[in-house]
Amino acid sequence: MTISVLFVCLGNICRSPTAEVVFRDRVRAAGLEQHILIDSAGTGDWHIGRAPDPRTQDAAAERGYDMSSLRARQVTVDDFARFDVLLAMDDANLADLVAMQPPGSSVILKRFLDYAPHSDLREVPDPYYGGEDGFAAVLNLVEEGADGLLVSLQERL
Ligand code: 4NP
Repeated sequence: MTISVLFVCLGNICRSPTAEVVFRDRVRAAGLEQHILIDSAGTGDWHIGRAPDPRTQDAAAERGYDMSSLRARQVTVDDFARFDVLLAMDDANLADLVAMQPPGSSVILKRFLDYAPHSDLREVPDPYYGGEDGFAAVLNLVEEGADGLLVSLQERL
């Protein structure tokens, strides 16, 4: 049994690749890498092929996550068939995914922070145009959501 999860934000250079590395770390620690498949993508096309934002990489490296090998890609219609679960970082990302969803697709579409029920926030704020604090804040939210997501998926496996 496998479950495949795609994290989705706007640019795929800040929030969703952060979720990808953090969740991969949690899945590896749980010994579930054969059962949980992970990727990330952006709804926008501006940064296709680029490495994560240096500010995002620096914030992640401070907590021991290496994001240097990741490259941005855009969400495609095929992703609705390839993945079981698509997790949006904010409401705009979710609306864009709903608009793209092909008829008959049975993919599960949710907000990533649905898995962080104790957080006051329902969206992971876009850090791109803000200060350095925003990148650490993304990591805090992503670590909380990743822990909740792992518990939820372990119940399904
Ligand atoms: P992300 O952040 O969606 O978390 O990757 C952004 C990256 C780039 C832009 C916006 C948000 N941008 O406008 O280029």
